[in-house]
Amino acid sequence: MTWTPTADWPRLTRATAHLDTPLAALDLGALRANAADLARRAAGTPIRVASKSVRCRPVLTEVLSRSEYAGVLAYSLAEALWLVREGVSDDVVVAYPTVDRTALAELVRDPAAAAAVTLMVDDPAQLDVVDAVAGPGQRETVRLCLELDASLSLPGLWVGVRRSPLRTAQEARGAAEAIARRAGFRLVGMMAYEAQIAGLGNQPVAGSAPAARVRAAVVRRLQERSWRELPERRAAAVAAVGEVAALEFVNGGGTGSLERTTTDASVTELAAGSGLFGPGLFDAYRSFQPAPAAAFALDVVRVPVSGTVTVGGAGWVASGPPGADRLPTIAWPEGLRYLPAEGPGEVQSPLTGPGAAGLGVGDRVWFRHAKAGELCERVDTLHVVDGEDIVGQWPTYRGEGKNFG
Ligand SMILES: Cc1ncc(COP(=O)(O)O)c(C=O)c1O
Repeated sequence: MTWTPTADWPRLTRATAHLDTPLAALDLGALRANAADLARRAAGTPIRVASKSVRCRPVLTEVLSRSEYAGVLAYSLAEALWLVREGVSDDVVVAYPTVDRTALAELVRDPAAAAAVTLMVDDPAQLDVVDAVAGPGQRETVRLCLELDASLSLPGLWVGVRRSPLRTAQEARGAAEAIARRAGFRLVGMMAYEAQIAGLGNQPVAGSAPAARVRAAVVRRLQERSWRELPERRAAAVAAVGEVAALEFVNGGGTGSLERTTTDASVTELAAGSGLFGPGLFDAYRSFQPAPAAAFALDVVRVPVSGTVTVGGAGWVASGPPGADRLPTIAWPEGLRYLPAEGPGEVQSPLTGPGAAGLGVGDRVWFRHAKAGELCERVDTLHVVDGEDIVGQWPTYRGEGKNFG
């Protein structure tokens, strides 16, 4: 499907007109189109679904029903255990190290869970935590994935996110050997996530100031520079670890890097999540444009002054470095902006601009969260719209009473 704002936002308004706000809608056609587009960009490499960018079980199940997708990249061990028990997947990699002793205790006493869940490690201290919960011999063997840092390190400049302390083939091999010396663990995978390519917008959104264009050009240069060193370093690390352990998978990439990461021969699977919902931060990419499959609506509740309307709610600001790009995008109608002195408020948000002229009490405004999964921490239900109709109410993690942080 091609998302056409003038047709598709009014369609969502019609389909949800009988519902009160705040409400979140999931456009099924857009979700499926986004899933297909991610798969096209992955070019045959399987995609592990990054659940932090979804946080809705039926969406995970829907996407995993496609042949191009396999397994879940979860964000907490408690979540991973729940997804396995609920039958969402029997192959869940927890993308971040865990020291959750309650969840570890559950993992190591459940053979089915221990066979399905893989923990992320980059430090022997993380293995010590597992052993403190239950020593080898008193528990199931724990599957491990070694994380290699994929950031770009230049003299005086770190480009990327701070993840693993392991950067070189030698360091990765040393860590793999340390795991091999310990009973009760099996190293089965590697992961190296190039956030500076996969999660950093490289195209200014329409109407941006010149500074944004300069910034995007700098980001593109740094991404090119990063890609000149990463595949070689990743391949060397995978080869070095492969001499110590039989690796089942090497995971890399994210929504913003699929077409690139799939060309890296050492990567056997990709990860992606955000591109399914197409949140605000993912408007800023050159090589792809997801449809806004997930959005939320708020109704106008007052008109404080001519030319300004106030909607109830909207303060759903995203995580990350504070800045305007973390605010919900005001998607429809066009021509609305936040008041600089108030922004999206805690319980109400005044909006101004030419778009306000056509709005009165009870009218609907559509927003998009800056980040994909965080929307689902705000609502219990995604109202699933297919064409002109609501075809389902899909509970979010929150709606199922789940909060994994
Ligand atoms: C390890 C890892 N891989 C991949 C991703 C990509 O997720 P998304 O496609 O939602 O940007 C993330 C997100 O932060 C991640 O932490």
